[in-house]
Amino acid sequence: MSKLELKNISKRFDGKSVLKDVSLVVNEGEMISLLGPSGCGKTTTLKIIAGLVEPDSGDILLDGESILDVPVEKRGTVIVFQDYLLFPHMTVEENIGFGLKMAKVDKAKRVKRVREMIDLVQLTGHEKKYPGELSGGQKQRVAVARALAVEPRVLLLDEPFSNLDARLRESMREFVCDLQRKLGITTILVTHDREEALMTSNKVAVMLEGSIEQFGTPEQIYKKPASLDIANFFGEKNYIEGTIENGMFKCKIGKFKANHNISSKVKAMIRPEEVELFPKSADTGVLGKVKRKKFAGDRIYYTILVNDTEIRCITKSEKDFKIGETVAAKIDFGNVVFF
Ligand SMILES: Nc1ncnc2c1ncn2[C@@H]1O[C@H](COP(=O)(O)OP(=O)(O)OP(=O)(O)O)[C@@H](O)[C@H]1O
Ligand SMILES: [Mg+2]
Repeated sequence: MSKLELKNISKRFDGKSVLKDVSLVVNEGEMISLLGPSGCGKTTTLKIIAGLVEPDSGDILLDGESILDVPVEKRGTVIVFQDYLLFPHMTVEENIGFGLKMAKVDKAKRVKRVREMIDLVQLTGHEKKYPGELSGGQKQRVAVARALAVEPRVLLLDEPFSNLDARLRESMREFVCDLQRKLGITTILVTHDREEALMTSNKVAVMLEGSIEQFGTPEQIYKKPASLDIANFFGEKNYIEGTIENGMFKCKIGKFKANHNISSKVKAMIRPEEVELFPKSADTGVLGKVKRKKFAGDRIYYTILVNDTEIRCITKSEKDFKIGETVAAKIDFGNVVFF
């Protein structure tokens, strides 16, 4: 098990700054997610760790020692790419054993290790097949086995699940996470899927435009986003401008007790799941009119108009109101984040 540290890594391509002073610590045996929108620099970060791209400045330490001058094949870091990059003319076992052959591991050892890997990723019976004869999930397991066969110190997964359909994605995600925990291998999972990042990792690093904007536990990232940009990246929210005075938040839709005591102009971020709807007779919350309603099976998405302000909310599907109906919207201000 190894501790990986990125120290002030910067990189420009064609004069354009792609990574800006990126620092990150992944402790021994930890799995972290690197989450961010397309083009923010996630793959470049992994390639720099693996030695496929050279940074302009900064350092990478593995167990406290710089690996910048260590050649790719000796770094002990492997990347599993999104499109797996299996060798089409090699069988499953040849693909898995490829790295060992390159490292000149003797044949008997190689055969044993490949058999262990096939066992580990549950591909027994498929040893002699070619990639073209495998399903997406099986190909991915070959790619993971090939990466693990060389006993890397750090495993780098670049959007490994994005080519799989929703159900397979979920089971492969569980499979890889279980494997990671079982082997205790230090891992970075790159993804642009928020839920995937929150569900799989000890910690999440949110990257926007080449900088790590926040690094914390899934709860911290979700409940206390460090900036409006991060909050926006995490999906649809309600933002209401107002002022806080003496522990009360005053805005267009009313006056509420606020968990914040500085006096200032603020923007309150209210998540749709923190607004609860009741019939208007319930005598709670603020009154509004149902403007939009989208049925989604176990949930209903509503947009409520309160004094010209649109409030989006998500309810259980039993909460069935009609468009135009007056409802009472109760906002849980305990979880509201003020910016
Ligand atoms: N070899 C290269 N030469 C020039 N520009 C590059 C090179 N590699 C990456 N870039 C640029 O660097 C930026 C970051 O690319 P990168 O592949 O790291 O993004 P990403 O976060 O992995 O995106 P995605 O989610 O789409 O995979 C992009 O603007 C990209 O065009
Ligand atoms: Mg990428």
